[in-house]
Amino acid sequence: MTYFKSKGFPYHRGRRLRNNSYTREMISETSLSVNDLIMPYFIRDHNEDFEILGMDGVKRYDEKELVEEIARILDLGIKSISIFPKIPDSKKSPDGSESINENNIVCKTLRKLKKRFDNLQVICDVALDAYTTSGHDGIIDKNGVINNDMTIERLSEMSVNFAKNGCDIVAPSDMMDGRVKSIRESLEKNRFSNTCILSYSSKFCSNLYLPFREALGSKDNLGNSSKSSYQIDFRNRNEAIKESLEDIHEGADIVMVKPAGYYLDIIRDIRNSCLIPIAAYQVSGEYMMIKKASENNIVDYKEFVLESLYCIKRAGADIIFSYFSKEVAEWLS
Ligand code: PBG
Repeated sequence: MTYFKSKGFPYHRGRRLRNNSYTREMISETSLSVNDLIMPYFIRDHNEDFEILGMDGVKRYDEKELVEEIARILDLGIKSISIFPKIPDSKKSPDGSESINENNIVCKTLRKLKKRFDNLQVICDVALDAYTTSGHDGIIDKNGVINNDMTIERLSEMSVNFAKNGCDIVAPSDMMDGRVKSIRESLEKNRFSNTCILSYSSKFCSNLYLPFREALGSKDNLGNSSKSSYQIDFRNRNEAIKESLEDIHEGADIVMVKPAGYYLDIIRDIRNSCLIPIAAYQVSGEYMMIKKASENNIVDYKEFVLESLYCIKRAGADIIFSYFSKEVAEWLS
C-alpha cells in the first residue's frame, strides 16, 4: 500500500492496539449480526424420514415441526430462512415436473408459513435436483445431455409457482446459462416484480456438497455422475467472477459464492467488482468439517464457528447461509 509510510519501531508498535479488549473492540473491522444470517431447513412430507445421517444436528422438518421451529428462530432474531425439500422417489421424474406442482411440499409449506408469520422472509432453492430421477439440476434430453434451454424454462415456471405461493426470494442454484434473465422475465410477466432473485452465481463443482445431497435425497439418484458440465471448476477464478457479473447483468438482485470458506478470494474479487449484495453459502461439508474437528477436540466449537463466519464477512460477504445460524443467534443474543 503506497499510503503506508512507517517510521518503524518503536514509533510503530502494533501491539499497542491489541493490549486490551477496549481497543481491540474499538478497532475491530468486521461485525456479525443475526441480520446477516440465513438458516437453511430441510422439509419433508410427514411420511418421509426425519433423520439425516450425514449431518449431525440437522433433521428434516414436517410442516408442524417447522412452524414450531420458526417461532423459535424469530424470537432469536433470525428473519430469513431457505427451504430444501426431500421429495419421495415416487414423485421424481426425468423432467422434475413435481417442481411446478402448486401442491408440492415447497408450495404447501410456503402457504402455511406465510399465513402463520408476517415477519418471515422465505428463500426457495430453484434447481431440479430434488425432483429429478437423475439427481441432476437440469433436464436430460434424448441425446443424454443436460439441456440448458429446456431447463431454464422449467426453472422459470418453478419460480413463478413459488412466487405465487408466497416465496420472497427465488434462488436459482442450478448454474444453467440465462436462467436469471428467463426467471426475471417470467416473474415480471406474471406481476411478481417484487420477488427478488438471489442467484447462486459463482457456484463451484465442490466435494463439499455430499452431506447436503443425502439430506435432500438426491445422492443415490446422482450416483457417480458429476455436475462438472454446469458447476464451475474450482481451479477457476476469472470464470467465477465472470459468472457473477453476467448474472448481475441478467437481473440478479443478490449474487452468491458457494462454498464459502475455501473460496474467500472469490468473495473478495466479486466484492471489488460490483455494487450489489453478496451472499456466501457455508455448505454442508464445511459444516460437518467443523463439527468433526470440534468433536475430536482439534478446535473449540463455538470459537471456531465464529471464526469461520467472521472470516466470510471479512472477505466481503453481506449475507451468510449457514447451518450454524440458529446456534449463532443464540450466542449473539
Ligand atoms: C442444489 C443445491 C446444492 C446445494 C444447495 N443447493 C447441492 C448441489 O449443487 O449438488 C448444496 C448446499 C450444501 O452443501 O449445504 N442445486
